[in-house]
Amino acid sequence: MTGEPLLRVQGLQAWYGRAHILAGVDLAVGRGEVLALVGRNGAGKSTTMKAVMGLLDARAGSVTFEGRDVSALPPHRIARLGIGYVPEDRRVFTELTVEENLEVGRQPPRPGAPHWTPEKLYALFPNLAEMRGRRGGRMSGGEQQMLTLARTLMGNPSLLLLDEPSEGLAPRIVQQMAEALRALKAEGLSILLSEQNLAFAGAVADRASVIEKGVIRFDGPMQALMKEESIRRAYLAV
Ligand SMILES: Nc1ncnc2c1ncn2[C@@H]1O[C@H](COP(=O)(O)OP(=O)(O)OP(=O)(O)O)[C@@H](O)[C@H]1O
Ligand SMILES: [Mg+2]
Repeated sequence: MTGEPLLRVQGLQAWYGRAHILAGVDLAVGRGEVLALVGRNGAGKSTTMKAVMGLLDARAGSVTFEGRDVSALPPHRIARLGIGYVPEDRRVFTELTVEENLEVGRQPPRPGAPHWTPEKLYALFPNLAEMRGRRGGRMSGGEQQMLTLARTLMGNPSLLLLDEPSEGLAPRIVQQMAEALRALKAEGLSILLSEQNLAFAGAVADRASVIEKGVIRFDGPMQALMKEESIRRAYLAV
C-alpha cells in the first residue's frame, strides 16, 4: 500500500457491557483495495465493523477515514462521509419493491466515488433486474443480500463494509456475489469484507487480516495467507 490508506483503524477496543470484545484492532484499507477480515465465529469481525461505523457506545482507539478522525462521529455522519455498511442481518424493506428499495438508498454523487444508478446496478445484479417489481419480503435470503448491497451502493460510497457477504448464499449466488465484488473493485471502490469462507475471501480480496479473540493475528497479501497453513489452522476453520 502506498500513501495514506483510505481507512485506518488503530488500537480499536470495544465492549458489550463489561465484556471486553476488541482488545486493540489495527487494520488499514488502501484506496481501491479489497481487505478481507477473516476469523472464526465470535472472533470479533462484526464488532469491528460496528465499532468503525460508530454503532457501539463503548469503544476506544482511533478510526481515520480519508485522513479525518471519525471516531467521535455518530453513525449517520460516518455513513454520509462515504462509508457504506451492509450488516450481517440483511435489511430490506419488505413492503417495498426492489425498485423502491433502491430509491430509499439514493444519495447525490460523491466526488472520487463511483456513481450508481438503478440501471447500472441491474447490470451488476441481473437477478435483481428480473424482479424489479417484487416486494422485498417475497425474495430469498440471497436475493435480499444482493438488494441490501445494491441499495447501499445507491449512496455512492467510496468504502464498503460488507459483513459476511457470502453467508447463507446458495453456491451459484456465492459465485455471482464474488463476480459483483470484483466488478465493484474494478470501478475503483474500496472494500472491507468479513468472511469465514476463506475460498470466497481468496477469490475477491487483495489482502487479509486474521482476527482472533479481538486481536489481529496476521496481516498480509491474500496469497500469503493461503500459503500459511499454520495460521489458517490456528485461527481459522480449515
Ligand atoms: N450484543 C452483544 N452483547 C454481548 N456480547 C456480544 C454481542 N454481540 C456479540 N457479542 C460477543 O462478542 C464476541 C464477538 O462477536 P462478533 O459478532 O463480533 O463475532 P464475529 O466474528 O462477527 O462472529 P460470526 O462469524 O459468528 O458473525 C463474541 O464472543 C460474541 O458472543
Ligand atoms: Mg459476525
